[in-house]
Amino acid sequence: MNDKKSYEKAVEELSLMLMYLTRTQDNNEFCRYREISWKGYDFGMLDRLSDEELIIQPRSRRGYDKYLYLTEQGRRKAQELLAEYGLCDKTLNERFVLRNILPEEAEQAAEIEKICFPPNEACTREKIVERVAAAPELFLVAVDQETGKLAGFLNGIATDEYAFRDEFFTDIRLHKPDGKNVMLLGLDVLPAYRGQGLAREIMYAYLRREHENGRKMIALTCLKPKVKMYTRMGYQNKGISQSAWGGEQWYDMVYVLNI
Ligand SMILES: CC(C)(COP(=O)(O)OP(=O)(O)OC[C@H]1O[C@@H](n2cnc3c(N)ncnc32)[C@H](O)[C@@H]1OP(=O)(O)O)[C@@H](O)C(=O)NCCC(=O)NCCS
Repeated sequence: MNDKKSYEKAVEELSLMLMYLTRTQDNNEFCRYREISWKGYDFGMLDRLSDEELIIQPRSRRGYDKYLYLTEQGRRKAQELLAEYGLCDKTLNERFVLRNILPEEAEQAAEIEKICFPPNEACTREKIVERVAAAPELFLVAVDQETGKLAGFLNGIATDEYAFRDEFFTDIRLHKPDGKNVMLLGLDVLPAYRGQGLAREIMYAYLRREHENGRKMIALTCLKPKVKMYTRMGYQNKGISQSAWGGEQWYDMVYVLNI
């Protein structure tokens, strides 16, 4: 029996992998999280990948743009194909899987929170467990493929409100799954995994996911030394926040995803 892939299928799969491997950061300051690929491929094949919701081909008034980007589903498919074909991925993508949290990972997340934040800023174990139960889809965890354990995570809740307030940290009843906006409550990377771009990877993957989910805005608060870090990720600094969490002075940072 001939179990070779058809010519059409082979071109489609190889093109998807190439789009994925050659993607580069979009320099557009409004969507730093997006990674684009150039469109030097057969148009019929591109349309099929669009129909399968693996890529998006942006259109402006002048017609189709010269670049495309992969959907989260497209990225996953390309990663699976690379594994199937025995090809390399970027180091971070090979080392970590980014996904929603599992219920049994709540205790690990609570431990990491304790390591990453001083007691006045850290979210308590009970609150983390509560959040994992009520809003697992608003978590994004990075799992070290070698150990199967969490290396870091980002979490938040969804709401129709626009201004950050401290009750978001403590009252999970404020979570509205289909809320227009996301209030980020914590970004944690374990010390052993720091300084390698993992926090940025988690933040951008979260923004891509929530952009696809149609959210309008992502907000967070941070201390002054972190303002530059978030600004470089594309967040706007809205100045000193009303938040008095942990008795500290916080800055409001905002990312507009969909107008
Ligand atoms: C802050 C933290 C998430 C960074 O994780 P990381 O994986 O080391 O970060 P990355 O390697 O992805 O670095 C991304 C960018 O942030 C900058 N950055 C990293 N740690 C920083 C820190 N502690 N202070 C200021 N900037 C920092 C990096 O220099 C890099 O900047 P670049 O865009 O100029 O290259 C991690 O140190 C941590 O968990 N700290 C404790 C909890 C915390 O402070 N969370 C953020 C709360 S607002």
